[in-house]
Amino acid sequence: MTDTTFPRGLEGSCYTDPDVFAQELEHIFAKTWQMVGHQSQVGQPGQILTARIGDEGVIVANDNGTVKAFYNVCQHRGHELIPTDASGTEPVGSLTTATTGALSSGAALTSITCPYHAWSYDLGGNLLHARGEKVGEICVPQVRVESMAGFLFVNLDPDAPSLADTIPGVEDQLLAIAPDASERVFSYRRTHEVAANWKIAVENYNECYHCPNVHKAFSAGVVTPASYRIHPYGNTIHHTAEAPAPDKVAYQRADAADANDYGSFFTWPVSSIQCYPGRVLNTFRWVPLDVDRTLLVREWWFANATPTAEQMDIIELDWDTTVSEDFELMDSVQRGVSSRGYRPGPLINDPSGVATVHSENSVPHLHSLWREALALPAPVDG
Ligand code: FES
Ligand SMILES: [Fe+2]
Repeated sequence: MTDTTFPRGLEGSCYTDPDVFAQELEHIFAKTWQMVGHQSQVGQPGQILTARIGDEGVIVANDNGTVKAFYNVCQHRGHELIPTDASGTEPVGSLTTATTGALSSGAALTSITCPYHAWSYDLGGNLLHARGEKVGEICVPQVRVESMAGFLFVNLDPDAPSLADTIPGVEDQLLAIAPDASERVFSYRRTHEVAANWKIAVENYNECYHCPNVHKAFSAGVVTPASYRIHPYGNTIHHTAEAPAPDKVAYQRADAADANDYGSFFTWPVSSIQCYPGRVLNTFRWVPLDVDRTLLVREWWFANATPTAEQMDIIELDWDTTVSEDFELMDSVQRGVSSRGYRPGPLINDPSGVATVHSENSVPHLHSLWREALALPAPVDG
């Protein structure tokens, strides 16, 4: 096969141009389903969670038994109803006691009070009172929220297809390897900001062409590299692999003959649910902070809210090896695509359409989704 049969990567400016990033916020992040958490976090009336979707903050709340989502924006003069950190997941600043209590302990919340002038809202986003003034009926604009195997996704676009229509078949495939996914609870979160465009992060995540070279622990102890397959289709990129032999497994697994598969389900553009052998369920979310800054939110979902010592071993091994090994790569690629010396290279495509550890089919697939979202023409070479 000659070089000319391979698709080419994107021009460097696609990863560095603030105007491109602004287009992405409008045409990708404001129009797609993005994971924000799990139904167990808002399982009881009064429970809420916060998240960041592109450049927008959202609140997901259990309003008397119904899960609702709305913008994290006070309809008085625009203060965030619940100020958060950059990940959107942790409250910061001067919160009311009631709000802080709900987020940290899961205690039932009956209202949300804006920190600025203390207008108060119910958990559906309806204004309850404006410090005694009659200001008329006001409701915070609503956001769509749907679930898949217990995981909650939101979409800012009222006209978007449903989540189920966007990623057909994924729920059944995920439940086949993690049958109790919808009963899991939030157990652990760790975040890290990379100095790279979000596309560099999700391209890196979705190819294992670099695994044999970079991820020695993952390749030796979590999966069998020869079995690794990556199937890109539609808005999903499905990774599958077999576990290593029992004497090579890197961590203690809740082992069972029927819990031996590795599966990862990436949903365009920035969400992934993955299951390590032993039904170790974990997720990746990427929050685009700027054209060259992306926050990784890495979360773990067990049957228990506090990880056991064995589960912490898995979490720490994963972070210290596979996850951290990618950080420097992404920062370096961002510097590289910013260089005058960068010419987009050929992408190694397996003609079967399914990638192994020797190919990177998901990268041009991601580029197709990106071009389609921005209404850009297909490249002449690909
Ligand atoms: S901005 Fe929220 S009460 Fe004024
Ligand atoms: Fe990697």
